Amino acid sequence: MALVTTYSQKRKEKSIDWLTIMNEGMKVLVATEKPFAKAAVDGIREIVEKAGYELALLEKYTDRQQLLDAVADADALIIRSDKVTAEVVDAAKKLKIVVRAGAGYDNVDLAACTARGIVVMNTPGQNSNAVAELALGMMIYMSRNQFTPGTGHEIHGKKLGIHAYGNVGRIVGRYAKALGMKVCAFDPFTDPKVFECDDVETVGSVEALYSSCDYISVHIPATEQTKKSLNYDLLSKLPKGAVVVNTARKEVVDEEGLMKVLSEREDLKYVTDIAADNQAALNEKFGKRVFATPKKMGAETAEANINAGLAAARQIVEFFVNGDRKFQVNK
Ligand code: 3PG
Repeated sequence: MALVTTYSQKRKEKSIDWLTIMNEGMKVLVATEKPFAKAAVDGIREIVEKAGYELALLEKYTDRQQLLDAVADADALIIRSDKVTAEVVDAAKKLKIVVRAGAGYDNVDLAACTARGIVVMNTPGQNSNAVAELALGMMIYMSRNQFTPGTGHEIHGKKLGIHAYGNVGRIVGRYAKALGMKVCAFDPFTDPKVFECDDVETVGSVEALYSSCDYISVHIPATEQTKKSLNYDLLSKLPKGAVVVNTARKEVVDEEGLMKVLSEREDLKYVTDIAADNQAALNEKFGKRVFATPKKMGAETAEANINAGLAAARQIVEFFVNGDRKFQVNK
């Protein structure tokens, strides 16, 4: 009763709605080493503040301690590729939910979060179009010798192998078909009806995919099973002149294997949105046959930032208000 009286008094005094009063003191931290576009931050702020929470922003941080300090009083956290380690979880004593504004959540220590009862979510599909467009752009960029003068190739009529047919892979396939490519996919986790519906050919093994396609677009997550799975044996199966496009994760590539196969096969090319640890050596040795973006930019569009950022903010509000856990990944 006393609590109700306090709320109604506050309501009268401040003339703010009940949700604001209920949520007073709750803090949502947006911690992005690689910041969202301003429009996305504005949208996140609007959603968060309308729900009665406070928004805190930590952008372009350079020191891990800044993140550790910022999470100390946060109830909810929105991140991109920012690493939520056990140390971060330990420093975040009030944290109840982490939303990775994006698809891959390999940057979050799920075990540490689960142990503390912290809900972890992603925002699947929200930045897929941006990543798919980049994958297509990279294919063309490599086919035209990184836009250096000289004769290149067209992608029209060539065969594209999509390695994992999730949200991004599916869009890549659709766009590639529109550009006149033949599209083939390998994904044992996708319902065969999806391939039928999209009229996309499938193969029964990853080896069959790599040995039959002129371009490979990689969309697998980094897991214990997939790490270093693009190894020498698999890459050696590529047909003459093939191009591997990686907009997924660097961890899925066995870098020594890649180095070896590129040394032995002068016809192969590798382009990535996530520089390999040995990228400098790759660049020096293979020149225009390899390329890495200076910083991961697949999801670096205003549209993707807005889609993923606002979805993250909405998911946090839905979680606190209605207990909605639809996108929880640590169940
Ligand atoms: C993702 O997993 O959604 C992408 O890799 C985007 O990552 P980013 O938010 O760090 O750009």
